[in-house]
Amino acid sequence: PSVGTLHQTGYHFQPPRNWINDPNAPMYYKGLYHLFYQYNPKGSVWGNIVWGHSVSTDLINWKVLEPALYPDKPFDRYGVWSGSATVVPGRGPIILYTGVIDERSNEVQCYAIPANASDPFLRKWVKPDDYNPIAIIEQGVNGSAFRDPTTAWWIDGHWKMLVGAKKKHRGEAYLYNSKDFVNWVRAKHPIHSVPNTGMWECPDLYPVSLRSKKGLDTSIVGNSVKHVLKNSLDVTRYDYYTVGTYLWKKDKYIPDNTSEDGWGGLRYDYGNFYASKSFFDPSKNRRIIWGWANESDSTEDDVKKGWAGIQGIPRSVWLDPSGRQLVQWPVEELNNLRKKEVQTSNQILQKGDYFEVKGITAAQADVEVTFSFSSLNKAEPFDPRWVNAQDLCAQKGSKIQGGVGPFGLLTLASKRLEEFTPVFFRIFKAPNKHVILMCSDASSSSLANELYKPSFAGFVDVNLANKKLSLRSLIDHSVVESFGAGGRTNILSRVYPTLAVDNHAHLFVFNNGTEKITVKSLKAWSMRSANIN
Ligand code: FRU
Repeated sequence: PSVGTLHQTGYHFQPPRNWINDPNAPMYYKGLYHLFYQYNPKGSVWGNIVWGHSVSTDLINWKVLEPALYPDKPFDRYGVWSGSATVVPGRGPIILYTGVIDERSNEVQCYAIPANASDPFLRKWVKPDDYNPIAIIEQGVNGSAFRDPTTAWWIDGHWKMLVGAKKKHRGEAYLYNSKDFVNWVRAKHPIHSVPNTGMWECPDLYPVSLRSKKGLDTSIVGNSVKHVLKNSLDVTRYDYYTVGTYLWKKDKYIPDNTSEDGWGGLRYDYGNFYASKSFFDPSKNRRIIWGWANESDSTEDDVKKGWAGIQGIPRSVWLDPSGRQLVQWPVEELNNLRKKEVQTSNQILQKGDYFEVKGITAAQADVEVTFSFSSLNKAEPFDPRWVNAQDLCAQKGSKIQGGVGPFGLLTLASKRLEEFTPVFFRIFKAPNKHVILMCSDASSSSLANELYKPSFAGFVDVNLANKKLSLRSLIDHSVVESFGAGGRTNILSRVYPTLAVDNHAHLFVFNNGTEKITVKSLKAWSMRSANIN
């Protein structure tokens, strides 16, 4: 087979060919989910961007429609860039997006509405000449750092939305107000800004419940909610968020002091996951986030294989009971692709032991495992200089013996382990607590050169009192998307094995720490391919 089919995903969203980047305007409307995305209809590198459009009844199987937005107006001739949808009561869905007005990349905000409200697929969209563009570059606004409007929310007689921006090196999110959704006025101050974070792409602001895992409509405010502000930092290419308080009367957001506000802060995902966007799904009362995972392969290979970019599996998101961070989990509809199941329980792994999970298609699988250990006494001491999880993972890989851990999975492994992508935990002892490192290490993922093979990693903020840690990995040819400790720390990685492909891929469980680990329970499934056409 050609390179293209070898690493093509079976159930992660990608259109049949060509380049995609950001998910745009995800929404649920009249029984259908809509997903738009930055799409190059002419090739597998970024350029010629239009809004690709697909619809689904279950967020997993998709019908690919013709693109919804093209750059064909004076206010978007040089680009129809990222944006969001708002379902406006009594009026239906309205898209807010960024139009590029010249070759210097000056940007304005625009709106589009369905051409035919009775078409269930909402195939055709129009950009009315009345009121467009709805937000232009004003004095004091850096015109080429002014983009990616959010979903709007309604409070106290006003629609409100954010636009990402930058002033010198300061990242900012402007707030706009409107009474009628077409006349918008910028508030005097950004809703929030942080020095030295650079351009805030694709901001997102939404409420999360303090009491339940249920999602909330974007317009909900009050005492029983916190708010989340997320931005995608152009400089590091990661998505960061804080949990905080939205003072709607003051058009201001104040992050809690439980995590850093900036690029040392919390991440949705400690791997390859960018320009994400959330939406509220009223049919199941949940909030869902989509994020884009770029290739880690060379541009030359992208051109050869004829496609580039996927969307991560849509994830339900809610506030952890600690209030300090979010929890994410693949939408339940994904489970419908599970077919053959194998399971095992109470398997003991002494130092250096490993076993194979046999009987599934290991290149296209879903695996859930819970590990337990009887003591943390052997945990290695934590050096406080280890502030960067990814550096630590690069230094202490799966082959470096530890005390409690490393233990976990070897995904996309070739038979003799010439190639493997380990996803694992390692537990350290700090003066008053334990520090848990979760790694998804691509450094041994492929014999091919010229790939980006990072040792992605994050710390896991979870209580170990019950001496258990869980891990779920979605393995999909060139994707390993993992959820640690029930979705508290997550890592999506793109890998391109040369031997561990299709039926030659294997899945192992391992322990390389001196403390004995019990595989309490393990379930693994071969996954069907999603229907995307
Ligand atoms: C993020 C981004 C957005 C922009 C779009 C252009 O990946 O750069 O800021 O709107 O992609 O494709």
